[in-house]
Amino acid sequence: MIETRALRKSFRSRAGRQTKTVDAVRGVNLQVAEGEIFGFLGPNGAGKTTTLRMLATLIEPDGGEATIAGADLRKDPAEVRRRIGYVAQGGSTWDESTAREELVLHARMYGIGKADAHRRAARALDAFQLTEYADRKCKTYSGGQRRRVEIALGIIHEPKIVFLDEPTTGLDPQSRAHMWDEIRRLRTEGMTVFITTHYLDEADALCDRIAIMDHGEVVAEGTPAELKREISGDVVLVGLDLDTTPQAAQLLDGEEYVTKLETIDEGGVRLHVEEGATAIPQLLRRLDAAGLALTSIELHRPSLDDVFLTKTGRSLRES
Ligand SMILES: Nc1ncnc2c1ncn2[C@@H]1O[C@H](COP(=O)(O)OP(=O)(O)OP(=O)(O)O)[C@@H](O)[C@H]1O
Ligand SMILES: [Mg+2]
Repeated sequence: MIETRALRKSFRSRAGRQTKTVDAVRGVNLQVAEGEIFGFLGPNGAGKTTTLRMLATLIEPDGGEATIAGADLRKDPAEVRRRIGYVAQGGSTWDESTAREELVLHARMYGIGKADAHRRAARALDAFQLTEYADRKCKTYSGGQRRRVEIALGIIHEPKIVFLDEPTTGLDPQSRAHMWDEIRRLRTEGMTVFITTHYLDEADALCDRIAIMDHGEVVAEGTPAELKREISGDVVLVGLDLDTTPQAAQLLDGEEYVTKLETIDEGGVRLHVEEGATAIPQLLRRLDAAGLALTSIELHRPSLDDVFLTKTGRSLRES
C-alpha cells in the first residue's frame, strides 16, 4: 500500500542573517502492506510528521519517490489525495461548527451524496462515542472528544489508507484504550493505518509493524516481537544513590555475566546480562560484600525502549 524510496526533505530557516538547514528526513525507505497498522516511533523532531506530510501530499519531497495505494506521489498527487485520509498532529476542527456538521461537510467534499453523508456521520459519531455531543459546537469539547472528531473526519470518506499523526496524544488512559479499539476496527474493515507515536506501549500493543525513526532516518524496522528478539539477554536495573553509583558501576563492569553496563542519570545502573535469574544473586552478593546498599532492583525482558537504546545510544523515555 505504501512504498517509499530514498524520500527526503530539508528545511531552510532564517535566524537573523544566518540560514540554517535542517535535514528533517534523510532517505527513508518504507514498505507497508495492505491492512497493516504501521507505526512510526521516534522522539520529538525525529521527522515523523514531515514524512507523513510528504506522503499525504501536503509538502513536496526534495528527493526520492513513493507509491501510495497504487498512485505515484510525484506524478499523480491528486489521485493519492483521493485515496488517503490524513489527521494532523494539531487537529483541524473548526470551533464554531458541530461534530455532525463537520463530518457531513467533509463527506460532501469527497463527493458523497447528502443522505449518505448524514448516514456516515451518524455511524462515525456512534463508533467514536460522540453521539451525545454531536450537535454542540466543537469549541465546547474536551481535548479527547475533539481528537475523536478529528479521527472520524479523517476516515469519513472510507479511504484505503489513513495517516494518523499522534492519534492518542492528550487522551486519558480510557479514551486511549478506546481509540486503540477503533483503530483495530479500521484494520478489520481492510483499511491500512499509518500512525506516529512516541508511546512505546502503543507501538508495542497496537502496531503490526513499526519503524523506529531518529534524526530523520529509520534506524530499525520490523514487528515489535522481531525487534525485541534482536536484543539478546535480559536487562537488570539496579537502583542506587547518586553517590554510590560510580563505585557500583566500577565494581559490576568487570563481572563476567555483565555484557554491557550503563549508568542512569538519576542514580543506579542498567545491566545487560545473558540471564537475569542467575545474574541477580551474583550481583547482589557483590554489592553486599562491598557494603553498597541498593534502593531497588528490576528485571526486565527487552522492550522497544531497549531496541531504541541499542540503535541510538539514548533511551526514548529520556529523549
Ligand atoms: N516548516 C519547517 N521549517 C523548518 N524546520 C522544520 C519545519 N517543519 C519541521 N521542521 C524541523 O524538522 C525536524 C523534524 O520535524 P517533525 O515535525 O517531522 O518531527 P516529529 O518526529 O514529528 O516530532 P514530534 O514528535 O515532536 O511531533 C525538526 O527538527 C523540526 O524542527
Ligand atoms: Mg510530529
